[in-house]
Amino acid sequence: MANSSDSKSIQGFSKLNKRGKIKWIVENFFKDPESVMHELMSYWHRNEDQQKVLDGFSENTISNFPLPFSVAPNVVMNGKTYCVPMVTEESSVVAAASSAAKFWQDRGGVKAQIIGTEKLGQIHFYWNGDGDSLKSLIPELEKRMREDAKEHLFNMEKRGGGLKKIKLIRFPQLENYFQLLCSFETCDSMGANFINTCLESFSQTLEMYIEKSPLISDAYREIEILMSILSNYTPDCLVEVSVDCNIHELGSFGDEIDADDFALRFYKAVQIAKADVHRAVTHNKGILNGIDAVVLASGNDFRAVEACIHAYASRDGQYRSLSECTIENDRFIFSMQVPLALGTIGGLTNLHPMAKRSLELLENPDAETLMMITACTGLLQNFAALKSLVTTGIQKGHMKMHMENILSHLNATQEQRNKAREYFSDKKISYNEVRKFITS
Ligand code: HMG
Repeated sequence: MANSSDSKSIQGFSKLNKRGKIKWIVENFFKDPESVMHELMSYWHRNEDQQKVLDGFSENTISNFPLPFSVAPNVVMNGKTYCVPMVTEESSVVAAASSAAKFWQDRGGVKAQIIGTEKLGQIHFYWNGDGDSLKSLIPELEKRMREDAKEHLFNMEKRGGGLKKIKLIRFPQLENYFQLLCSFETCDSMGANFINTCLESFSQTLEMYIEKSPLISDAYREIEILMSILSNYTPDCLVEVSVDCNIHELGSFGDEIDADDFALRFYKAVQIAKADVHRAVTHNKGILNGIDAVVLASGNDFRAVEACIHAYASRDGQYRSLSECTIENDRFIFSMQVPLALGTIGGLTNLHPMAKRSLELLENPDAETLMMITACTGLLQNFAALKSLVTTGIQKGHMKMHMENILSHLNATQEQRNKAREYFSDKKISYNEVRKFITS
């Protein structure tokens, strides 16, 4: 069993400077320390100030981990054309979003609307008093909480946001457990810090109220505040996106699939993802290919977005497709409602130099517009994936894009690359086939 005298363990690593950290890492974990050190340092930003900004985002940083910064042009949403920034490591994702954007550009684009922007936070506490009487005291308690947190609420209220309501929640299976579920409006920020600061202030007010209020009997003065934290489940911070057209406008897909066949095959694919969890997870992964890429590019919290979206996809007790397809009166409608707690100010959005550029590329949208653009990209991504799946199959397009990775893996020269691209333009691509071609 590993212990602290193990050569792979270290005390005080966090206190070493960056070079010291790298030195210890390369000497203890790599066979060729010199070249690894060189490689790690080669990814440092050439501008020292910029590197300091990047280092500030995390801890124990030793280098940077570059990912491609891409764009999907021609995304028409509510009549306006966007060029959407996407950060992803997976080939064919950006091509797919771009291709679906191009497809819908001539068919009315994507329609998007905000359903709600409510963010949530919770104070979890244990108390041996009576829930019903505490419930009746909530308005009075809320007034005091607002008063005590005035300085934290002030700026957000000026922007039109702040604390919206407080609800007392109980879970019968948890003895003496109570929760204050607080709902907030955080305007253009994602609001995590604002919410957490308010909650910590509210929890102090709650504690004091229980301990001192004449309306609480002396037998119930003891309260244990366990924790106060925002909830990343924000089902009412919701956006709706859709595309629709007459079925014949869908066009045909090769010799064998006409518009009617396509619409029906597409509809069936969505129905399967509504019914079967195995398919639903893959289907939603396709949506998240688009959503995550925009969330990352805009410096938002993709873990929070992912966790929320998956919980939302299970809201009726079974994990299902997020998107819907209907065929009605000869019209093909493809839509999705998705919760997205995003911000365009605060956090990394204005600190990360590329996130700042992403927002600039989107003409500095407010949070609601970013929510809609992000959902839009998710829907387009889903459309492209299903379009491929129910027509040519996914591998054709995916491998066409993935061929560059195969060629890099095989250390192909420029000449070999050019020849391979030409040779495989009308052939099935696989790692083995490309390898055989390169080495023949
Ligand atoms: P294609 O028909 O061969 O493309 O499709 P094309 O060469 O005819 O080009 C048409 C347009 O596609 C282009 O227009 C671009 O918009 C875009 P143009 O720019 O020429 O005016 N496009 C590209 N954009 C940038 N770089 C490129 C590029 N190539 C085309 N190199 C395509 C090829 C990959 C788009 C298509 O096959 C496709 O959409 N496939 C789906 C790919 C996909 O979903 N990939 C995600 C990974 S698979 C996955 O994780 C999800 C999944 O499991 C989810 C699920 O199961 O539901 C599938």
